[in-house]
Amino acid sequence: MSKSALNQKSKIHFGPSGRAVSHEIENDLLDNIHQHLTMERNANVQYFSMSLWFQERDLNGFSSFFLKESKDELEHAYKFTDYLIARGQNVDLHELAKPIQEWDSIQDLIAYSFNMEADLTISLQQLYAISERTSDIRTNVFLDPIVESQIKSEDEFAHILGKVRFSGENPSAILIVDEYLSRK
Ligand SMILES: [Fe+2]
Repeated sequence: MSKSALNQKSKIHFGPSGRAVSHEIENDLLDNIHQHLTMERNANVQYFSMSLWFQERDLNGFSSFFLKESKDELEHAYKFTDYLIARGQNVDLHELAKPIQEWDSIQDLIAYSFNMEADLTISLQQLYAISERTSDIRTNVFLDPIVESQIKSEDEFAHILGKVRFSGENPSAILIVDEYLSRK
């Protein structure tokens, strides 16, 4: 192999974090990944706050369900930070919103959660569309299992919302839903 070919072979591009990068993430996609990361972290804090709201009211099945959801959101956030670092990027942590701590009814709280999950799905779809547009196949492959689990989350919240709506906030019916969630 000639000397110039060897030099060519050892040429490596380094990303902002100083790690080797073979394909840099396009700016628009990078911004959107950071925004999505903030949404996952906001969901983590919001679900934690909901878990406490139920714990204060002795509805421990709902409380443990929301604590698990909160941990899941942190896990999702971690997946994105891990991915950004693997792609040689610096992780930019944005400010988080103060979680809502007061609710008029359980139904309002669950409906809010369902909408939060729907917003997360929309955000993932945007990421997917941008990565397709910029031919960032790595990001599409990374997103595939995340989109799949996001669809399950939406379905789960729709199911719980259905149960709570059916209960009509009747205390004995709510206790049955609480018992159901304690077994999840
Ligand atoms: Fe999530």
